[in-house]
This record gives sequence, structure tokens and C-alpha cells, in this order.
Amino acid sequence: MEKEKLLFYNEYEEFYEMAEKSIAFQKFCCDSFGQDFSQDGFSDIEQIDMILPYIPTKEDIHILDVGCGNGKMLGYLQKKTGAFIHGFDYSQKAITNARGRFTQKSDFREGIIGEIEYPDNSFDIVVSMDTMYFSKDMNAFVGQIKRWLKPDGILFVGYQEGELVPRTFDENTTELAKALKNNGMNFEARNITKQTYELLKKKRDAAIIHKAEFENEGHIQWFDMLMMQTEWVEEPYRQFEKVMARYIYVARK
Ligand SMILES: C[S@@+](CC[C@H](N)C(=O)[O-])C[C@H]1O[C@@H](n2cnc3c(N)ncnc32)[C@H](O)[C@@H]1O
Repeated sequence: MEKEKLLFYNEYEEFYEMAEKSIAFQKFCCDSFGQDFSQDGFSDIEQIDMILPYIPTKEDIHILDVGCGNGKMLGYLQKKTGAFIHGFDYSQKAITNARGRFTQKSDFREGIIGEIEYPDNSFDIVVSMDTMYFSKDMNAFVGQIKRWLKPDGILFVGYQEGELVPRTFDENTTELAKALKNNGMNFEARNITKQTYELLKKKRDAAIIHKAEFENEGHIQWFDMLMMQTEWVEEPYRQFEKVMARYIYVARK
């Protein structure tokens, strides 16, 4: 499939180019998420640290990040655990940067969800933050991930409703929950919608603090985008939660 025709492909190429160069954006990420992973979403350090207890302490651990961007989040997990890190993303720029940045015990691939393949029983943990919705067939993709996981492997997902996919009733009614059930994967889900609303406020405040730096770098359009993405803070939480929801899923093979 031609990548250029996929949703947001060109936008992500521009995003990862900016994320590499922009000191303002790197500071924005540190201030809002507690760590710069070049986030285009909501994975703050608290959410990423929730992965750590699921990473086995034995030798030779393999973690895959679906939609890994420039690999910074995987780099953090490797530093904490010594794991071999694997990541794929359709963004050529992001993967080039990831390969340049992480050269030890790592495998970064340019790949499209639904097309890329890994051998069965490869990974102890598969992580995917704010990316599962780009799959054209969630059911099939979850089935594929299940095959990639080792027998005691874990799938850890940050999943948001209200933007790319509509809000459903609760954590048991999302497209992801249905796909997990269809594939016979047991899961627990944690509702972190309130924390996400608070995070939006932090994102907005951090963007405003660094506005002049975005401007001086010639990146004011990214500041404008951050303001647009955080407009929800103008509304009370009870409005926000009617339209938006965020969950952390932990599913077992
Ligand atoms: C919302 S961002 C999340 C990035 C990162 N995981 C985070 O939490 O900040 C979605 C990521 O998925 C990648 N992506 C989008 N559609 C994709 C597709 N069809 N195949 C592979 N990667 C895709 C984008 O390049 C981007 O890195």
C-alpha cells in the first residue's frame, strides 16, 4: 500500500521532523508529560511507568512498540529494564531517527499496521499508545499481536475515544475491548479520563509557556495545533467526559 495515501502520513512526517529539531517542543513534552518521548497524544510518564511492573525481570526480554515514533519511549523502557527493544511505525523520518538514536539491542522497522509481520511468540510485552485506532481491521490486528506474544505475554494499550473513534459506553464496549474478547484475550482496563482532562490543562499551560520559543524557531503552527488540541479545557469536566474517554488496557495472551 502507498503510505502517502494513509491517514495523516504526511502530517506525521512533518511532525517527526519538527520533534527532532524543536527545542520548544522538547521542553513542552518535558513540562506536560514529565518526560520528552515526542508524544503526539497523552502518554505521560505515569502511564508509561504503569508498563514497568509487567516487564519480566528475567534475561532476554523483548518489547515491541506499535506506532513507536522516534523510539524515545522504548529507549526509556530499555534504560529501566535492559530489554531488547523493537518498534515499528509508518513514518520514515521517525524510524530513521530511532535507528540513529538507539543502536544497541534494538530493531526499528518502517511498517504499516496490518501489513508488517513478526514471527509468532516473539515478545514479552507489546505496547501501543494512541495508535491502535489506525488499524483498518482491529479484530485482525489484535489477532496478529496475540500470535506475536509469547505464551505469558502482555498487551498494554493507551486508548482514547472521542477523537479518531467515537465515545462508546465504557471500557467494555470499545472497538478494542470487542477485538480482545473476539480473540479470547482476558483484559483489565483502567479509566483514566479524569487524569487526561488534567493532562490537557498541563499541555495547554506548557504550550503557552513556550509560545515565544515556538515562534522564534519558526514553529508557531505547532503551537497553534497544541492550542487547538487542548481546547477542551475551556469546557467543564462533565462535558468533556460525555464525549471523551481514555483507558489503559492490559490484556493477556
Ligand atoms: C497518535 S501517534 C502516537 C505516537 C506515540 N505512540 C505516542 O504515544 O506519542 C500515532 C503513531 O502511529 C503512527 N501511525 C499512524 N498510522 C499508522 C499506520 N497505519 N501504520 C503504522 N504506523 C502508523 C504515527 O506515525 C504515529 O507515530
